[in-house]
Amino acid sequence: MSRVNIKSTIKMQIEGIKKVIIEKLEKAGFTIESLAISTSDEIISKVEIKEKEAIDIIQKAQNALGVQPLTALKFLELESKRGKITTTSNELDGILGGGIWTQELTEIAGGFGSGKTQLCFQLCINVQLPKEEGGLDGNAFFIDTERTFSPRRIVEMASYRELDVESILNNIYIGSALNTSHLFSIVEQLNDTIPEKNIKLLVVDSFASHFRSEYIGKGRLVERQQRIMQIAEQLIALAVKYDIAVVVTNQIIANVEEFLFGSPEEPALGFAWAHRPQQRLFLRKSRGSSRIARLFDSSRMPEREALFYVTESGITDAPFPTEFYS
Ligand SMILES: Nc1ncnc2c1ncn2[C@@H]1O[C@H](COP(=O)(O)OP(=O)(O)OP(=O)(O)O)[C@@H](O)[C@H]1O
Ligand SMILES: [Mg+2]
Repeated sequence: MSRVNIKSTIKMQIEGIKKVIIEKLEKAGFTIESLAISTSDEIISKVEIKEKEAIDIIQKAQNALGVQPLTALKFLELESKRGKITTTSNELDGILGGGIWTQELTEIAGGFGSGKTQLCFQLCINVQLPKEEGGLDGNAFFIDTERTFSPRRIVEMASYRELDVESILNNIYIGSALNTSHLFSIVEQLNDTIPEKNIKLLVVDSFASHFRSEYIGKGRLVERQQRIMQIAEQLIALAVKYDIAVVVTNQIIANVEEFLFGSPEEPALGFAWAHRPQQRLFLRKSRGSSRIARLFDSSRMPEREALFYVTESGITDAPFPTEFYS
């Protein structure tokens, strides 16, 4: 699969800024969206221009995006241009409104073996596909906190689809986060890595594990929540700034109060976290290789369920490995 040059995917036009400067900004990985929320120092550190020019660029980028209130119609137009990554299951894509969206934080929660990591692997492959095939012509960054990243599984999934396996592997960047502070440093560095490596999908699998194992007991709950919110804000900022999809996985816990009357299980990390992701997907095992995904807490889609399968070929709509090629 050919690596797509960042330049060709961004059509940046900012009125009143010289073409040559726009080219420099694009080369440094800036988009109109990222310029609009950058500081002049951030721009100067990457592009050789004066502070006055940087301030002017920020203002013009903000104007181009419309810092003036947007009409709902304009909002709809901008939303329709946002990219989506297919999950490879039409059913699952359906409840998600076309796949995993850019500029959003999507949570995938579920119990052991429910398919969270498998879905993340599939997305790491699919993001590399051309747009007409459900990808974003971009690369993936996988933050692995549980040492479960499996290149062999990626090879297996990619081979089923007759993709260039070496290229697929070459375009997935992996950061192993050994604890929460390590996770924070990796996320901080992403401001450079995302534009540099044309990252279009960021995965944190599992987002919950280090927080749950490091901040134990009620005494550390406030601190834990603060750290979770801090990193959630950073992830959302990255999603918007670089127009990328951010997917995090979460574990489930027993919901004692609801055990008899409501759902006996709920995603971990508590109430404050629950409001951060724009989409929350709850996976549960069903018969054989089938899985049920429930979309909940979405600001844009109704609460619905989809049936999909985790097979040798990856995420599919069918219980057996599907032949993707005709
Ligand atoms: N090569 C494969 N072929 C077919 N099915 C597979 C393959 N590899 C994994 N699976 C399926 O995926 C399941 C594991 O799913 P996954 O690793 O995504 O779980 P998870 O939700 O991430 O769980 P955990 O919370 O433990 O990380 C296995 O139980 C199996 O059903
Ligand atoms: Mg997993």
